[in-house]
Formats: sequence, C-alpha cells, structure tokens
Amino acid sequence: MTNPSTPSNPSTPILVTGGTGTLGGHVVPLLTAAGHRVRILSRRPRAAADDGTEYVTGDLLTGAGVADAVAGVHTVLHLAGGPKRDDEATRTLVRAAARAGVRHLVYVSVVGADTVPLAWLRTKLESERAITESGIGWTVLRAAQFHELTLTMVEKMARLPVLPVPGGLRLQPVAAREVAARLADLALAAPSGRVPDITGPEVHGLAALVEAHRDVHGRRRRPKLPVRMPGRAGRAYRSGTNLTVSGALVAKTTWAEFLAESVARGAGR
Ligand SMILES: NC(=O)c1ccc[n+]([C@@H]2O[C@H](COP(=O)([O-])OP(=O)(O)OC[C@H]3O[C@@H](n4cnc5c(N)ncnc54)[C@H](OP(=O)(O)O)[C@@H]3O)[C@@H](O)[C@H]2O)c1
Repeated sequence: MTNPSTPSNPSTPILVTGGTGTLGGHVVPLLTAAGHRVRILSRRPRAAADDGTEYVTGDLLTGAGVADAVAGVHTVLHLAGGPKRDDEATRTLVRAAARAGVRHLVYVSVVGADTVPLAWLRTKLESERAITESGIGWTVLRAAQFHELTLTMVEKMARLPVLPVPGGLRLQPVAAREVAARLADLALAAPSGRVPDITGPEVHGLAALVEAHRDVHGRRRRPKLPVRMPGRAGRAYRSGTNLTVSGALVAKTTWAEFLAESVARGAGR
C-alpha cells in the first residue's frame, strides 16, 4: 500500500468518473500526456482507446461496475454528475473506494454549493461531505459555471423574440479547459483538502452574455423583459452568493474569447 500523502504512481491507473463528459474530455488527455494510465467509468460500453485509456462499464446510481472501476486505483478524479442524485452517486463511489484502498479522492463541486438553496446544489454539498468524511485523502475544487454550459443556455435564450432578464442574476463563467488543467495538477499531487475556487475572469449579467453571443453571430439585439427570480434561491442569486469575488483562482479565458473560439470551430450557432 502506498503512503496516502504520495501522489499516484504513473503505472497505477487514475480512475476518472465523468471522463466522457465536457470536463473529462479536457482532463483525460492531460493525464495521459503526463504519462499516467487512465481508466474511465462510463454507463455505455466503450472500446479501449489508442492512447491506452481503458474503460469500465458501470453506473454510480445502481452501483454496477463500481468495484471493478476502483480496483487497484490510487487516485479517483470524480467528475461524473447529472441533474439529480449526485449525492447518492458519490456515496456509492466513496464506499467502493474505501473498500478498495483508494488513497486520494479529487472532487469537482460548484461555487455556491453551500450558499444557493437549490436542490441540485444541495446534492453537490452532500457529495463534498461524503468525500471529506470518507477517511480517504481528499481534494475538493469548486468551479464556477463553465462557458460551455453557459453557451448552451445562452443559445436557447438568443432565439427568443424577447429576452427575459432575471434581475440581479450574475455569472462568472470559466472555460472547462482551464478547470481541467487545475484538476489534472491536483490529481497528480498529494491530497490538498479544500482548495481555492476557480472562476472565470469576469462577472456578467445574463443579458450581457446573450448580447455578446448575438453580436458575435451578427444578429440584432432583442428587447429585454425584466423578470424576478422567486424565493430564497432568487434572493441568493440577487445577493451574489453564487459568485466567488475574493480568494479564487481566476482563469484567463473571457466569455468573448470563448465565443470567438466557438465561432471559429463552427459551434455555438
Ligand atoms: N457544467 C458546469 O458549468 C459545471 C460547473 C461546476 C462544476 N461542474 C461539475 O463538473 C462535473 C462535470 O461536468 P460536465 O459539464 O463535464 O458534465 P457532462 O458533460 O454533463 O458529463 C457528465 C458525465 O457524468 C457521467 N455520468 C453521469 N451519470 C453517471 C452515472 N450514474 N454513473 C457514471 N457516470 C455518470 C457521464 O458519463 P457517461 O454518459 O459516459 O456514462 C459523463 O461523463 C459535474 O460533477 C458537474 O456538476 C459543472
């Protein structure tokens, strides 16, 4: 058994849950480029990749395949997530990891997990708890909303004839590529505990994000309709508790740069 404070040995596979997702798609090549073996847990059967990446078929919500996924692993980079039940999925992973003698759990959570009262964010906070109380060495990084997810949201809004603008809602979007680089560094180091949040370089209101998207596609701006977000979550967003305004690691790629890149790739219409 290796010492918990030592980083993963390159010949021991690093398990990446969510390795097939947006964030995982950026992290996995960084780990393999650093000379590490990577194993990915996915719900769909997949053939091993040319770069040696291996796949284990399984599901964190049913528990199928999870014991096989963690077998012989020193470090788990837990990126799998969905709209619901991330807490259950994380607890299943943690139980299997503890049984298998995993030494380092790295988890990506979301900025505002403890301050914005949304059911989905509660599952992220519960996931953090499962990790920090696991008895295994751990690292938790909270990230702001990715530019990629922001783009999906903005594309839908940009098509509306009138733009609904929730008063006071601001975002600090960050490129998944930069979050991935930070996570790869953390996964290859010893457990670090809760590390500073990672955010994008700018804070934008929703209307500004949509208008920048319309501008980059040469579309006319639309009339705006102010709307009020109801309830406690609305109050939390209006008071900016979904933002990390101090102490964060601030990534470089701006929303405008990300949009320009996505246009150059032919994405984000
Ligand atoms: N998107 C954001 O703005 C944002 C911001 C901060 C933090 N995060 C967190 O970052 C993580 C990755 O986000 P993402 O945007 O890259 O996600 P994504 O593109 O939606 O990908 C989700 C990944 O989770 C895996 N997955 C989902 N349910 C699973 C299950 N039951 N068992 C095993 N694997 C499962 C999927 O694998 P298969 O489909 O191959 O099974 C897929 O690889 C999530 O935990 C998310 O909460 C996201």
